[in-house]
Amino acid sequence: MYLLDTLREGLAELDSRGLRRHRRIAETACAAHMRVDGREIVGFASNDYLGLAAHPALAAAVAEGAERYGAGSGGSHLLGGHSRAHAQLEQTLAAFCGGFVDAPRALSFCTGYMANVATLTALAGRGTTLYSDALNHASLIDGARLSRADVQIYPHADTDALAAMLDASDAGVKLIVTDGVFSMDGNVAPLATLLALAERHGAWLVVDDAHGFGVLGPQGRGVVAELALRSPHLVYICTFGKAAGVAGAAVIAHETVIEWLVQRARAYIFTTASPPAVAHAVSASLELIRGDEGETRRAHLRALIERTRAMLRASHWQPVDSHTAIQPLVIGDNETTLALAARFDAEGLWVPAIRPPTVPVGTSRLRISLSAGHSFDDLARLENALSRIEAGGNA
Ligand SMILES: Cc1ncc(COP(=O)(O)O)c(C=O)c1O
Repeated sequence: MYLLDTLREGLAELDSRGLRRHRRIAETACAAHMRVDGREIVGFASNDYLGLAAHPALAAAVAEGAERYGAGSGGSHLLGGHSRAHAQLEQTLAAFCGGFVDAPRALSFCTGYMANVATLTALAGRGTTLYSDALNHASLIDGARLSRADVQIYPHADTDALAAMLDASDAGVKLIVTDGVFSMDGNVAPLATLLALAERHGAWLVVDDAHGFGVLGPQGRGVVAELALRSPHLVYICTFGKAAGVAGAAVIAHETVIEWLVQRARAYIFTTASPPAVAHAVSASLELIRGDEGETRRAHLRALIERTRAMLRASHWQPVDSHTAIQPLVIGDNETTLALAARFDAEGLWVPAIRPPTVPVGTSRLRISLSAGHSFDDLARLENALSRIEAGGNA
């Protein structure tokens, strides 16, 4: 009883601070227009940036993959679960995203969370100093903690502060770790400067491009390709549950780094490989992403982003300067943010309230997330609601 009471108290405290989260039930495929909890809504909550999650070609690829390989992989990658579908996906990815390094190789994972934990725990350990951006994703934070490295957090995107920290370091191994596109702010990390610092200080640079892959760069190759960075000390992580519309992730790096992960990354070794059908569908998604359809979808998304930026600038809201599909409106406290999200919900618009610990205390926000699946009519509905709803949450 005592333990349950402790949990009940904890839950009551979450309620009282506006921090309890509730799952909503999607009754149709993830898309701009979907039925959620029995109501038709326009969704601005997903990370399905290219609108591929409900693409018939990907649903067909899952079915084809399941027919060929069955439902599950049956084992870990090192014990029977590594299929031709995984191998093919890794080969394609190394060629697609590995232009930043000679001898690139890719390693596929069930999720981005696991890829991040695996990479940081395998590359960092006691005696390593890991430099982490203050706004990095939770999976990077957890990987850093699990690695047992000395973790130093540098102020968000502050390369001067990081340079000073690196100057003062005598660590044997150094890792700089950053989101490519910050998931709750939409801004792009100063990667060129981070890489220059890494090279100068003999450090690795690990870039989690969960929100850039598929969207940024030539053919959607991601943020590292967009900036044309090159280095054997770069480790690039992309995920497939967002723009690619499926699930999973991959780490791409010099072949020696990848071989080290295969041998030493516990989050890779001690878990069942993803269903091969999923890897097969990701390969199909890559075909779409790098082809004409991907190009068309990215162009439409860019147009939606520009329209949204103009609309927000002209409104009474205070947008942040984001050029990506992530367009947050920072509100401040939890209760006001929740009240505002409820107002949008009443208008049939799903604009989620993002609260701590996802974002720092006092910076709760509405996160508008755009998708190539949106039409300009969807944006007009959003604009209408934005103009009628007061930023203070009471109107
Ligand atoms: C920046 C970032 N990295 C990693 C992840 C984890 O990826 P996955 O959902 O595939 O576990 C996410 C989101 O979920 C993310 O936003």
